[in-house]
Amino acid sequence: MGQDYELFITNMKKKTGIDLSLYKEAQMKRRLTSLFKKKGFRSFADFYHGICRDDKLLDEFLDKITINVSEFFRNRKRWEILEKKILPGLLKENRNLRIWSAACATGEEPYTMALILSKFIPLSRIRIFATDIDEKAIATARLGIYPERSLEEVPDELKKRYFVREGNLYKLSEDIKSTVIFKKHNLLADPYGGPYDLIICRNVLIYFTDEAKEMIYKKISNALTIGGILFVGSTEQIFNASRYGLAGVDTFFYQKLPV
Ligand SMILES: C[S@@+](CC[C@H](N)C(=O)[O-])C[C@H]1O[C@@H](n2cnc3c(N)ncnc32)[C@H](O)[C@@H]1O
Repeated sequence: MGQDYELFITNMKKKTGIDLSLYKEAQMKRRLTSLFKKKGFRSFADFYHGICRDDKLLDEFLDKITINVSEFFRNRKRWEILEKKILPGLLKENRNLRIWSAACATGEEPYTMALILSKFIPLSRIRIFATDIDEKAIATARLGIYPERSLEEVPDELKKRYFVREGNLYKLSEDIKSTVIFKKHNLLADPYGGPYDLIICRNVLIYFTDEAKEMIYKKISNALTIGGILFVGSTEQIFNASRYGLAGVDTFFYQKLPV
């Protein structure tokens, strides 16, 4: 790793608590280099000094490292498995499921969970905890207003029931919004809490080093109740899940084993 980048990592960790060394290096370096060059800086050292002088630049740095792309029912087939196979099993044990959507970006994922769960239990009984490292994404999530392209996979009856169209945007109903509690959380540094019956952690692990992934799987496993489920993204299968006390129950779903 170049000394310039290494020092930048140390400085940014002190400044923001974000440890860039746990993100895949080539990808992250490329993204940040393109940003600082665009802004007229020549090195990571210059860039760091710029960030210290200008909060807007710090925001742009945060935007660059957090890729907030999401959509409702992302990889819809997986959500169907969740609805038809996984949820009925979990609800048989417990009607008050504790659910965490980690790295939820702009909220489409926890809200998708609420839309599905609304078919099984009254909305007033649903509580979903949703977190992301990016406060701006969380603010958007709390607003609950989305462009049409985010809703492409939403089944018509749910769209009709829970969204109101306003021009080119769709506003999510207050009763769905109120089922989700959003909070800032860094998967690489903050405690995980729990126990949870279901943890949804999708399309974020791809950005992390193997070492970081391992740490996250261990912490997720510890935060799951016995029999609880981890739902991962479509490129994020866990090799050797039993090392973390987990067993695959379907593609992209893992269950916490008794200790
Ligand atoms: C591509 S989005 C995934 C959104 C959603 N889970 C989905 O699958 O559609 C990745 C999210 O991970 C968040 N993220 C990146 N690093 C993180 C960290 N260390 N802790 C928590 N969230 C993080 C980003 O802010 C971004 O919102």
